Amino acid sequence: MTDPIWAKVAQLPVRRHSPLATLLAALAGLGMAAMAIFYAVYYQDKVGPAQPLPFSHRVHAGVKQIGCVVCHRGVASSSDAGMPPLQTCMLCHEHIIREFPYIRQLREQYEQGVPIAWLQVDTLNEYAFFDHRMHLRRGIDCGYCHGDIKDMDRVFQAHEFQMGFCIQCHRDNGASHDCFTCHR
Ligand code: HEC
Ligand code: HEC
Ligand code: HEC
Ligand code: HEC
Ligand code: HEC
Repeated sequence: MTDPIWAKVAQLPVRRHSPLATLLAALAGLGMAAMAIFYAVYYQDKVGPAQPLPFSHRVHAGVKQIGCVVCHRGVASSSDAGMPPLQTCMLCHEHIIREFPYIRQLREQYEQGVPIAWLQVDTLNEYAFFDHRMHLRRGIDCGYCHGDIKDMDRVFQAHEFQMGFCIQCHRDNGASHDCFTCHR
């Protein structure tokens, strides 16, 4: 605060800005405002909630190319894809990066029988019925409904599952659009 250099700078005569400098400053300001809006509107939406343990699909399904069904066993066998139990994680992490702090936490919770309360981002209201099996059987890619999961460190909801989203594809593919199909 009391640095003498700054005291001298403060006493320097103030010069009028040239019009060019003013214009450049205004442009820089506009640019920054545009970036702020871009990040607020577009970018932040694209990161899911922080999970109780920082699990990354980019690392597992992307880099290490572990198949979705290894962890989401339900997709092929029940209506719910389901969240993996800790036992599934331990298949690998009993051996891989055992001493990594989050993996230690994982092992402790596993040994104490305390499941991880993953936050779910994709939900439907109870009055709407969905079943993964029929869609897999027709070869619809997970990404059509869930986005590019292999690129996500933190999963976010790629689509709000409103009725129009479902019905549009049902129409295009000759699938049933009777109300009773999805509202039982
Ligand atoms: C046609 C759209 C669609 C496709 C394709 C699809 N899902 Fe889903 N998925 C949904 C909907 C809708 C929900 C929400 C279900 C609910 O809340 O009842 C969901 C929920 C989930 C959940 C949350 C847990 C659960 O069971 O509710 C997981 C995990 C999941 N899907 C994984 C997958 C995987 C893996 C694939 C590909 C093998 C896949 N999904 C393909 C629409 C789809
Ligand atoms: C099929 C094997 C396999 C399964 C199952 C598995 N992981 Fe991993 N995991 C890996 C590999 C491989 C790495 C990368 C290790 C490395 O970078 O050296 C990894 C890395 C991690 C990391 C390190 C941080 C990071 O993202 O790089 C965390 C945390 C983690 N896994 C958590 C989990 C959780 C939680 C589960 C269960 C839901 C799970 N893993 C299931 C193989 C697996
Ligand atoms: C190594 C285990 C593992 C693999 C492989 C894996 N997932 Fe997951 N998945 C999880 C875990 C753990 C969660 C819950 C934490 C989270 O959302 O990141 C989850 C959550 C999700 C969700 C969010 C569901 C919701 O409603 O919150 C979707 C969608 C999903 N996975 C789809 C996929 C798809 C598609 C693939 C293959 C490309 C895949 N997963 C591969 C472990 C895995
Ligand atoms: C990308 C296309 C696509 C999307 C998106 C989609 N579906 Fe489907 N769905 C299909 C097809 C194709 C079938 C027919 C499968 C068969 O009969 O072999 C089907 C079948 C079904 C069935 C079973 C119908 C029966 O005859 O029992 C239900 C229930 C269903 N879908 C619900 C939903 C809901 C709810 C959503 C939105 C959250 C949704 N679907 C989104 C393509 C889609
Ligand atoms: C392919 C599946 C599907 C079919 C077929 C379908 N719905 Fe829906 N419906 C949905 C989904 C998904 C929602 C939104 C659920 C949510 O918000 O979680 C919904 C929501 C609704 C709502 C709540 C208000 C709204 O628009 O979100 C009403 C009312 C409704 N549906 C009536 C109908 C009627 C009537 C029919 C037959 C003409 C029908 N639905 C056919 C999937 C379907």
